[in-house]
Amino acid sequence: MNEKTTSDLIENGYSVINNCLDKKLLDSIKDNINNNLITLLKENKKNSFGNDISKNYYEIKKIIPQYRLQVLLARKLVNEELITKLFLSKKILEELIVLLGPDIEYLSDFELAINDKDVVDDDYLIKKYHQEFWSGMGLEAIQLWIPIHLLDGMGSIEVIKKSHTWGHIPHRNREPLEIPKNHESEIINVKTGSVVIMSALTLHRTVKNNHEDPRIALPITVRNFYHPNTGNSNLFNYKKLNLSFFSKIRRILGNPHYSPFRTLNQKRKDMFKKEDD
Ligand SMILES: [Fe+2]
Repeated sequence: MNEKTTSDLIENGYSVINNCLDKKLLDSIKDNINNNLITLLKENKKNSFGNDISKNYYEIKKIIPQYRLQVLLARKLVNEELITKLFLSKKILEELIVLLGPDIEYLSDFELAINDKDVVDDDYLIKKYHQEFWSGMGLEAIQLWIPIHLLDGMGSIEVIKKSHTWGHIPHRNREPLEIPKNHESEIINVKTGSVVIMSALTLHRTVKNNHEDPRIALPITVRNFYHPNTGNSNLFNYKKLNLSFFSKIRRILGNPHYSPFRTLNQKRKDMFKKEDD
C-alpha cells in the first residue's frame, strides 16, 4: 500500500504522502491556533482581533516574539491531544506503521514552523540547508512536515535529492561546510491534508514565504521506541502513538517480572469507572 513512500524515502530521502490527514482535524488544529492567538491578544488587553488567523498573528507578534509563539502554540496542540488525534487518521497511521513498525511515538516538544513575509534575515526562522541529525534526531526516526495554513504561492521546504546517502555532513554554525556541486534540489509541492516525510540525514531548508499570510506547518519527529537510539532522543519528550500486541501485554502485566496474580480480584478498576460507562 505504501511501497511508493518507502521506495521514495530509500531512493531520494524524502516523499509526500498525499491526502492522508483528516480534514476536520486539520481545521480544528487551525482553529485551536487561532483561538489561542485571540486568547493571547485578550490577555494582553488588545481588542483588535477577529476571525482572520493572519491578522491575529501579526497583531500578537507585535507583543510576543515569534520564537515564543511557536513554542506556546505547539504546546497547546499537544496538551489538547490534537496532535495524537491527527496521527490517528487512518492513512497516516498505516503509513507510519509500515515504515517504522507498530510501536511508535512522536516528539511532543516540537514547535510550530511559522514563516511570514516580514522575516528576511533570521537563520532560526529561515533555516539554511541542514540535517535534523545535527540537532539530535536519530537515523531510526523520520521527520514529518505537516502543512496547516498553506496557500498557493507560499512555498514550502526545499530538499536535496539523495543527500541522505551522503552520511553525516560536516557543518559549522548550522550550515554545511560542503555540498557536492552536482546536486539536485526540489521545492516540494505539497497541499494541506498531505505530509512531507524525510530521513534524519536529508538536507533541507526553509523556502521564504512572500505571501501576505503566514505559512504555518508542524515539523514533528516520529520514531519506534524499540529501535536503537542513534541520536539524542533520550533527552527529548515523546508521546506514545501506537502499541503492538507485545507492548500492550507488557502494559497489562505492569512490570517486567510478570508478577503472578498482580491484579487478581482487584476493585480498583471500579473506582475509576465513569458513571456513563
Ligand atoms: Fe529541519
